[in-house]
Amino acid sequence: MEIVIQPTPEAASLIAAHIIANLVRDKPDCVLGLATGSTPLPMYRELARMHREDGLDFSRVTTFNLDEYVGLPPEHPQSYHAFMHEHLFRHIDAAPERIHIPNGMAADVPAECARYEAAIRAAGGIDLQVLGIGTDGHIGFNERSSSLASRTRIKTLTEQTRRDNARFFGRPENVPLHVITMGVGSIMDTRQVLLLAFGENKARAVAEAVEGPITAMNPASILQMHAVAKALLDEPAASKLALGDYYRWVFANKPQWQRFVRGR
Ligand code: PGA
Repeated sequence: MEIVIQPTPEAASLIAAHIIANLVRDKPDCVLGLATGSTPLPMYRELARMHREDGLDFSRVTTFNLDEYVGLPPEHPQSYHAFMHEHLFRHIDAAPERIHIPNGMAADVPAECARYEAAIRAAGGIDLQVLGIGTDGHIGFNERSSSLASRTRIKTLTEQTRRDNARFFGRPENVPLHVITMGVGSIMDTRQVLLLAFGENKARAVAEAVEGPITAMNPASILQMHAVAKALLDEPAASKLALGDYYRWVFANKPQWQRFVRGR
């Protein structure tokens, strides 16, 4: 895994936005895997700015989101449909028919999950997947003990995740119990992964994922087996890494052609 440590979430998010923008320019009909939560917000703000001010064109891009709450209709303010519209899609020119988010209202959840996997395959697979990480190491909503080969399916949220997400719902009891999430195996099939993690409360999960053993007890640790995975961290999220100085050294000595933001 490539570990990039930046002083602030904004600096790390700028790099993430540049990586995505470069992909969109090189392959205008690319397929992006997108994530919700607090973590990707500065990156989405920068992508929206690049669209507005630099003309970054998303009109041929296809997107797939990682997950959605079961039982929340798209118009519910805490649904991930609403989140993505509010924080990204209304600010860019992505074509609505190429935006995909699991349907949390599906009457037949397994059929919806199979349909979602088929839609990803039909689009040619995901070129780049954005990921956050839970305080317990979950990616998407693949909680600890998730099969590392899992596909899109229903999951039951842990009490910890419901507590972590209660800030959006007022109280933990209001957070839905069930979600549809792309599986760990679905995430591993993507061609490139950008894992973003900010803040001290992510430091333990990040250290275990990057430097610990590969284990379903930290689903993000499977990214050690992904051929093109980058972790973009702020200093607090990187604070428990044993090899932090080495990762900073590698970043500082990147050859010019390998840099993410030209000239830096
Ligand atoms: P957060 O969530 O970005 O809101 O911290 C990350 C996650 O749970 O995957």
